[in-house]
Amino acid sequence: MTDPIRAAWDTLHAIDHPTLAALFEDTVRVESLSGRIEWPSQDGDCGILFDWSKTHLNAPLIAGFEQLANACDFAGQREKLFNAEIINVTEGRAATHTAMRGAGEASKVEEGEALLRRMGILVEAIHDGALGDVKHLIHIGIGGSALGPALAVDALTRDLAKVDVHVVSNIDGVALEQAFKACDPATTMVAVASKTFTTIETMTNASSALKWLGDNGVDDPSGRVVALTASPEKAVEWGVDETRVLPFPESVGGRYSLWSSIGFPVALAIGMEEFTQFLNGALAVDAHFAETNGADNLCLRAAFADQYYTRLRGCQTRAVFAYDERLDLLPDYLQQLEMESNGKRVTASGDQVDGPTAPITWGGVGTDAQHAVFQLLHQGTHLVPVDFIASIVPGDMLDPAHHQILLTNCFAQGAALMAGGNMSADGTDPARAFPGNRPSATILCDDLDAATLGALIAFHEHRTFANAVLMGINPFDQFGVELGKKMAKDIESGGAEFDASTRALLEKSGLG
Ligand code: F6P
Repeated sequence: MTDPIRAAWDTLHAIDHPTLAALFEDTVRVESLSGRIEWPSQDGDCGILFDWSKTHLNAPLIAGFEQLANACDFAGQREKLFNAEIINVTEGRAATHTAMRGAGEASKVEEGEALLRRMGILVEAIHDGALGDVKHLIHIGIGGSALGPALAVDALTRDLAKVDVHVVSNIDGVALEQAFKACDPATTMVAVASKTFTTIETMTNASSALKWLGDNGVDDPSGRVVALTASPEKAVEWGVDETRVLPFPESVGGRYSLWSSIGFPVALAIGMEEFTQFLNGALAVDAHFAETNGADNLCLRAAFADQYYTRLRGCQTRAVFAYDERLDLLPDYLQQLEMESNGKRVTASGDQVDGPTAPITWGGVGTDAQHAVFQLLHQGTHLVPVDFIASIVPGDMLDPAHHQILLTNCFAQGAALMAGGNMSADGTDPARAFPGNRPSATILCDDLDAATLGALIAFHEHRTFANAVLMGINPFDQFGVELGKKMAKDIESGGAEFDASTRALLEKSGLG
């Protein structure tokens, strides 16, 4: 009997690669390959348009990928995700991040609501002055405990923040010193965010922050600390009062934890009402992802295109350009989400994968990137699928010309990548030739508010999950980060032998 997954890939490999120009002869292509996810807002329905028409997906490819999704039991895996079944098989855990925003297994949703209420009480107490005058928060965490808070605070508080938040992740003391310079110790709180409460960078930075408070006249530095963690007992042991420990479940992965107490700095900066909107936007995407089948499921459709470019066209990277300054940290956030989740070489059952897994995610903001890296996208030898992200409503109050130029450039880039042409007078100069037929997708938000940001992030979480299912890998572990951490400890303890190059580097730096 033929393996159904192999059979689906055989079908996909046999399909011709049409050009985008040929695909656009279909007059209903844009409607067929665009879809919206919406949620109610004060001013009527609000939402995001996902236009995948400038990718090479067509009816035969979609049918082939739907065959693959069935062969991979996509529907069954999705059900396991929302039912809090053990889907992170290598660590024997469920993945319950959706429950933190209200979607999934009832007891996990209830647990999420209770934890959110607890966080809300502390946030509101701080806003009401119960912990004294709090003007600044230094949020200390790394990876999943930092990238989400940094992105959301940066995106949502450009106009006004209830508390001024500084996210510090790097062990390089320069990062923490910079936050110290921007904060007044008398009005500063510290959030220590760590799922494990053992990460060396976070614990070292946290100790230095406490010392800074003490050295600068704060009587009880520990009294100014809030812990955000899945290991509450460790936080208490470290000296944080139980009333200021905001726990989250072990089954919420670090890079999926922004919806849990790791979102505390976001809630503190924007207020609980707005934070609830943030969760609600994500919840709208959960509902779409859980209830929509086949390529109408926009997260799965995006994963079909991702798999097409990685596995059938050999693309090694994918690029994301936000034509919105407020999303300048989004590529960093997506890098961790996608590369730590799907940068794997064995399947969930431990077999060698039979094709490439996650491409390298990279990107930047438009229009800046146009003047720096777009040369390669238009004329380089690599085929790079691009996502463009923009908001119809501007984030600024300046002359509308700013936003018009921003949006027209965004749309022009997608059109130019697809159309190609020759910019020389006689149309023959090869240096001025654009091959075209280069793919892009456009994610167009009605307005970049808290709900929209939540929806955008949840869309990428589910897209990442869908890609993992189609490749048969477990997106919820990250053992690849462990070996380097162990070796750093070995160097510190002096208890291990290293290669000649590493020994020489250590000696030259006075560490050997
Ligand atoms: O080293 C990788 C990692 O484990 C990430 O997955 C995680 O988000 C980050 O470190 C921080 O871990 P923690 O929240 O436990 O401090």
